[in-house]
Amino acid sequence: KKKIAIMTSGGDSPGMNGVVRACVRMAIHLGCDAYCIYEGYEGLVRGGDLIRKMAWYDVRGWLSEGGTLIGTARCMAFYERPGRLAAAKNLIINGIDALIICGGDGSLTGADRFRAEWPSLLEELVSQGEFKADEIEPFRHLNIVGLVGSIDNDLSGTDATIGCYSALARICHAIDLIEATASSHSRAFVVEVMGRHCGWLALMAGVATGADFIFIPEKPSEDNWREEMCSIVEHHRKIGKRKTIVVIAEGALDREGNKITPTMVKDLLADKDGLGLDTRITTLGHVQRGGTAVAYDRMLATLQGVEAVRAVLEATPDTKTCVIAINENKIVRKPLMEAVLDTKKVAKAIERQAFEEAMALRDTEFSE
Ligand code: F6P
Repeated sequence: KKKIAIMTSGGDSPGMNGVVRACVRMAIHLGCDAYCIYEGYEGLVRGGDLIRKMAWYDVRGWLSEGGTLIGTARCMAFYERPGRLAAAKNLIINGIDALIICGGDGSLTGADRFRAEWPSLLEELVSQGEFKADEIEPFRHLNIVGLVGSIDNDLSGTDATIGCYSALARICHAIDLIEATASSHSRAFVVEVMGRHCGWLALMAGVATGADFIFIPEKPSEDNWREEMCSIVEHHRKIGKRKTIVVIAEGALDREGNKITPTMVKDLLADKDGLGLDTRITTLGHVQRGGTAVAYDRMLATLQGVEAVRAVLEATPDTKTCVIAINENKIVRKPLMEAVLDTKKVAKAIERQAFEEAMALRDTEFSE
């Protein structure tokens, strides 16, 4: 019987439990044994009871649960070869050579490296006397499939990562709540949202709540952002708006690549010589990541989980490690590392854009 293992890694995101449920049940449906690796890569390295066989009913009710019920952890040991050697040993002991990982791009890159290293890990285990050559023969190839679980929606090549719409819904709900106080007291609020280096959550939340101004890393703010924001807010106030909402991504930058902080924005809105607004900062924090998944994330988790099991069973030694994506409403398989590299290119472009604009600014200043 083929044995397939599923694990979650990196920051938790709503929908991860739906992924585990779908993978476990699809694996069983196709006549395989399903395993869960608890505590992410930590479980892979430590093995023992952190690798557990799952039954159909073990994942009952998981669709509506937040976080990840099989745990996730930052695992330093997996970064080192002895850790990966222990992980390989644990998989072989359990008869597993097919792994589905739901996590962010960092976790998935780690998985791809593990797969590439697999033959040499097996050789080392044999030379250490852990296994005989014929014992590892059925495990010659490790097949890995990735699913993107992250609230940040920061992977190139997929329209949505599992969890991003739940976080977006939570942010919008929080801003709706804040608006009661903003309107009542005629206050301004600077709302900081997560997203690491990606501005998707901030941009979409700003659009969905009709925010007055939005800061995101992908579009570093012009050097006149202070004047621009103040004049927009002033205009909105003049036409009778009693509340001001500025959404700022945690990775927001100015054109020189400097961080724009909520305090900088607040000080400006509150400046007595300017707008003089009674202003508060709300950092939404992990409230955005918790709670039950919205319908879209449950659907995405289920459809992609089913596809991941198919993909891991169909993988051959020659196929590249794939990631399950969604493009224009279709669930598709994509080469994992291409998606990761494209993501890195975008991040680099943001840095470069900020750098080039800073250089251009410096040149103008020097020539004046
Ligand atoms: O990647 C998800 C995320 O929530 C980011 O938006 C945020 O920057 C980060 O994780 C926070 O990480 P931690 O939970 O380790 O503080």
